[in-house]
Amino acid sequence: MHDLRGRAAIITGGASGIGEQCAVCLAAEGAKVLIADIEHARAIRVAEAIGAGCIACACDVTDPTSVHGAVDRARNEFGTLNVLVNCAGIGFVGSIEETEPNDIERLWSVNVMGVYNASRAALPYLLEARDGVIVNIGSVAGLVAVKRRFAYCATKGAVLALTRQMAIDYAGTGLRVNCVAPGTVETPFVDAYLARFHRGEEDAVRRDLHARQPIGRMGRPEEIASLVAYLVSPEASFITGSIITADGGWTAQ
Ligand SMILES: NC(=O)c1ccc[n+]([C@@H]2O[C@H](COP(=O)([O-])OP(=O)(O)OC[C@H]3O[C@@H](n4cnc5c(N)ncnc54)[C@H](O)[C@@H]3O)[C@@H](O)[C@H]2O)c1
Repeated sequence: MHDLRGRAAIITGGASGIGEQCAVCLAAEGAKVLIADIEHARAIRVAEAIGAGCIACACDVTDPTSVHGAVDRARNEFGTLNVLVNCAGIGFVGSIEETEPNDIERLWSVNVMGVYNASRAALPYLLEARDGVIVNIGSVAGLVAVKRRFAYCATKGAVLALTRQMAIDYAGTGLRVNCVAPGTVETPFVDAYLARFHRGEEDAVRRDLHARQPIGRMGRPEEIASLVAYLVSPEASFITGSIITADGGWTAQ
């Protein structure tokens, strides 16, 4: 447990999976949390389940106006904004030949431009707070090649690079910028791509997804959320510009 009282966070993509568990974990440790997600009804359900100190806001990270609205709402409700967790993200399965221009544009607009939009909108408040933290949710797919993940690897590689770049521009201002790179984590994200890209072979592919991590299973969203909570906490005060894997040993091979 960390003491996150005094922390006011916005979590994009906080209505499901890893982002949802980040909201649960940060709120449990005392932070105020705004869940900013395109799925507004689900975001409201998650915020209501968490209870006091957690609110929800409709937000499409690809739309700068929408993101500004969410960021301003957090700052107005909480009086400060010192944490941004960029978790909204989408996947796509395909080699370069199987990836149409609109597929890569869609992934780029959410996974990369979404991080740009939210970070840019939150920066004035994060700098004003003088102890701001950004945690980007990248992926091992930004570090190593994953078969038939052309667009996904490209976008997550960009997230890792922009994390390091922002960290050094703002080092010394009090703002820390880090990236968590999960291996495969059992969330609706995985269910969705199994249903879309592996219809009829879901069980076999799910077994492979467990097995490709040396630890022998997929991760659980709360295992990623506890790392995010640590990075947000004062205990992580010397950590900036880091890419921290949580991947059951995948990238150690
Ligand atoms: N699940 C995994 O195996 C895995 C592994 C590595 C990295 N990741 C990354 O973790 C993050 C969260 O993944 P997850 O598994 O929890 O997925 P998820 O599908 O369970 O949750 C993603 C959330 O993002 C929201 N979202 C999508 N597009 C949005 C938009 N334009 N604006 C605002 N919100 C939007 C969705 O509504 C959803 O609530 C993603 O960035 C993903 O790439 C996931």
